[in-house]
Amino acid sequence: MENWTRRKFCVSAVAGGIAASASSAFGAIAAKAEENPSSKFVNGNVLRTAATNGKRPCIISALNGLHHLDAGMQVLHATGDTMDAVLAVVTPVEDDPNDNTVGYGGLPNEDGVVQLDACVMHGPTRKCGAVGAIEKIKNPAKVARVIMERTNHTFLVGEGATKFAIDEGFNPMNLLTDKSRLAWLAWKAQSSKDWRPGLDSPEFNKELAELLDTPEREAWAPWIRHVVAHPPTGTINCLAVNEKGEMSGVTTTSGLAWKISGRVGDSPIIGAGLFVDQEVGGAGSTGRGEENIKIAGGHTVVEMMRRGMSPADACMEALHRVVHNYEFDKSRLKLFDLQFYALNKDGVHGAASLWSDGEDGHSISYAVHDGTEAKAVPFTPMFQGHGGDY
Ligand code: GLY
Repeated sequence: MENWTRRKFCVSAVAGGIAASASSAFGAIAAKAEENPSSKFVNGNVLRTAATNGKRPCIISALNGLHHLDAGMQVLHATGDTMDAVLAVVTPVEDDPNDNTVGYGGLPNEDGVVQLDACVMHGPTRKCGAVGAIEKIKNPAKVARVIMERTNHTFLVGEGATKFAIDEGFNPMNLLTDKSRLAWLAWKAQSSKDWRPGLDSPEFNKELAELLDTPEREAWAPWIRHVVAHPPTGTINCLAVNEKGEMSGVTTTSGLAWKISGRVGDSPIIGAGLFVDQEVGGAGSTGRGEENIKIAGGHTVVEMMRRGMSPADACMEALHRVVHNYEFDKSRLKLFDLQFYALNKDGVHGAASLWSDGEDGHSISYAVHDGTEAKAVPFTPMFQGHGGDY
């Protein structure tokens, strides 16, 4: 019954034209999108990118995984275990003190506490695990896997998640590095005069910038100024398909810098930060989680692929829904960035970004290894320019 229903749905969707049905829901927005040269929406229809031929095995990630895709591909060649492969990519990023958006060294919340979010989905067993606002454990993606494999639950949060991880043998540690601690103190000093030298201090009248430029901070000063002014939401998502067509995915993050304690973004939300159905494909996201949660982006992308869209177009459709939520108001859309990544069961990949450029003004990319070598591939952008100046 299920097969019949699914097949009937797919056939009718393709015959009826996906583009037309997608555009009918968002016709008003699509009409406005005609004004934008980089838009994928023309005359109310989604422009369908030609799906490139896929290759299996294939593994893709956010760009911060580029140098670890080789390790993931080696796992795919050696054992074909897609969950091991995606964790081989993201675990070193979680371990890296210099990646301030994931794991150890991730920027903390407003209380100076690093709270991490992650989830995993395993295509062959259709199982998933997730962890939110976990503290003291640098590898939340592995904790999510343990929740998936050894419990009857899918999602643990906060103190319970930390306790669970310690009980399962993960070592608790201080996740703040000197660099992330100094950045947090700079943010505190900007936010409150009580975190600056007092009335009775000779330094009382110093400008904040002068106070922050201490010898201790010197090497990191430009970066600290930047993250204080523009709290990042960097994250890593990774998706893999093996030779047989089995798939897994993971998303892991320290979330929005300086967030309210307990804030959980999209990364551990199954259906938002990640979704995998290996009969179709997988999708994940990085960027401002609040916007992704509102459109259940990971699930949306996979469902669009199920209806026949290429991975890149499916990602663009998810972004289209975000834009729709803001009625195409670029003055507000400019304040954040959001990316979607997709890999289908045939090894065809695609990714779309709300804005074309990063902070350095250059176009942004994601990372792909299709068996030959790891390389950076440009996103399909919805708008030209840089977003994320919240
Ligand atoms: N996408 C990461 C976050 O918003 O927490």
